[in-house]
Amino acid sequence: MSAYLITNVSVVGGPPTDLLIRDGVVAEVADNLSAPDATVVDGTGLVALPGLVDLHTHLREPGREDAETVESGSRAAALGGYTAVCAMANTSPVADTAGVVEQVWRLGREAGLVDVQPIGAVTVGLAGERLAELGAMADSAARVRIFSDDGHCVADPKLMRRALEYVKAFDGIIAQHAEEPRLTEGAQMHEGEVSTRLGLIGWPAVAEEAIIARDVLLAEHVGSRLHVCHVSTAGSVEVLRQAKARGVRVTAEVTPHHLLLTDERAETYDPVFKVNPPLRTAADIAALHAALADGVIDIIATDHAPHAVEDKECEWAYARPGMLGLETALSIALDVLGPEWDLIAERMSRTPARIAGLTGHGVDPAPGVPANLTVVDPAARRTIEPAELASRSRNTPYARMTLPGRIVATFLRGEPTVLDGKAVK
Ligand code: DOR
Repeated sequence: MSAYLITNVSVVGGPPTDLLIRDGVVAEVADNLSAPDATVVDGTGLVALPGLVDLHTHLREPGREDAETVESGSRAAALGGYTAVCAMANTSPVADTAGVVEQVWRLGREAGLVDVQPIGAVTVGLAGERLAELGAMADSAARVRIFSDDGHCVADPKLMRRALEYVKAFDGIIAQHAEEPRLTEGAQMHEGEVSTRLGLIGWPAVAEEAIIARDVLLAEHVGSRLHVCHVSTAGSVEVLRQAKARGVRVTAEVTPHHLLLTDERAETYDPVFKVNPPLRTAADIAALHAALADGVIDIIATDHAPHAVEDKECEWAYARPGMLGLETALSIALDVLGPEWDLIAERMSRTPARIAGLTGHGVDPAPGVPANLTVVDPAARRTIEPAELASRSRNTPYARMTLPGRIVATFLRGEPTVLDGKAVK
C-alpha cells in the first residue's frame, strides 16, 4: 500500500502540521514528519477535513444510466470531497428488494471511489401502498439501515407508523420526503408572491410543515428514528425545534441550494431551477441558516439529482425537478458559512456518518483512524462549467458562477481518489 505525506496542512482549521497516511490509516499527525517512501502533497494553505458524507444522493443506476451511473456519481462525489454517499431508492427498478440494494452496493464497491451505502424504499415501487421488504434489505449484504421513498412522500399515516415500528427493531431510520400530496397537486414552484406574479401553481410551505408535524408525533409515539429530507421552510424549522426540545428522535437535512437560491430564480423559466421541494424565499433561507448554526438542522445533504438533457432542457412545466450537487456542495457551504471548518466538518461529515452508522467515516484525521479525508484549498475560486463536471448530467444551477474553494485531494482508506484536483481513475 502507498504512503502519502501531506505537509503544512491545517487539520479542520487548526495550525499547520504534517499528516502521514500509510496502510490505509492516518499514521501520524505532527510537525516536521519525514517519510522518504511517501508521495508528498504540499498542503500549504490547505485544510484537511474528514471525508464528506452525503446522506442524500441520486445515482440513477439501475435504470437511468444516461443521467448517472454509480461510477460517474461516485467520481463526482470524490471530486466534491466525499468518501461516502447514501444512494436513494428511486431507481428503475426501485430499490425495494434485497436484490436491487445489493446490486447498487456491489456497483459501488466495483467503482471503488466512495463507499456507496444504498437506501431502501419504504413502500413497494414507491407507490405508498404496501411496505417493501425492509427486513430483507436490512439483512442483505448492503445492510440497509435508512429507508426512504424520496421523490414521493409516505403520505398514508398508518403506513408511516408501520414503517417506523418495523425499523425500530434494528434501530433503522425512515427518511421522509415531506410533501402532503393533496396540497401540491399541479404545483410548479413555491407558493408565494413570485408564483402569483408568474401565474404558476404554487407548492405551499404548509404542505411540508404538516407532514413534518405529523411525522415527529408518529416518531415520538413509536419511539423510532425519523430523518427529514431537504427541509426548506422557516415553519419546518420551528416544528423541528419544538420536536427536538421534547426529545423526539428526529434528524434533519438541508440542501446547498435551499441555503442559497430563492424562488425568484423561477422568473428565468430556466428549468435548471426547478426542484422539489421548490426554492423558497429569503426569509426561509435566513431561518435555515440559523437552524444549521444552532443544530436544529443536523446536516447538509446534496439531493444530487442528475437529469438527462431531454428531461431538463424543455418547458418548465414538463421538466423534472432536481439539480446536481455533489461537485459544488463544499463550495456552497464555504460561501454560506464562511471558513467555519469545525461546523462544516460537523454538518457535512461527522453527523451524517453518525446518522447513517458509517463506521470509519466522519472521523477527524488522527493517528490510527481510517484515512478517509479530503483536502480543500479555501483560497481558490473556480467558475463552474457544466461541461467540465464528472456527472453524466449537466443540470447544475451554478453554471458560470464563481464559487470559493476547490477540492485538491480526496483519500478513501488511504488511497487517493482525487489528486491535484483531478480524479485518479
Ligand atoms: O428535486 C428532486 N429531485 N426532489 C426529489 O425529491 C427527487 C429528486 C429526483 O429524484 O430527481
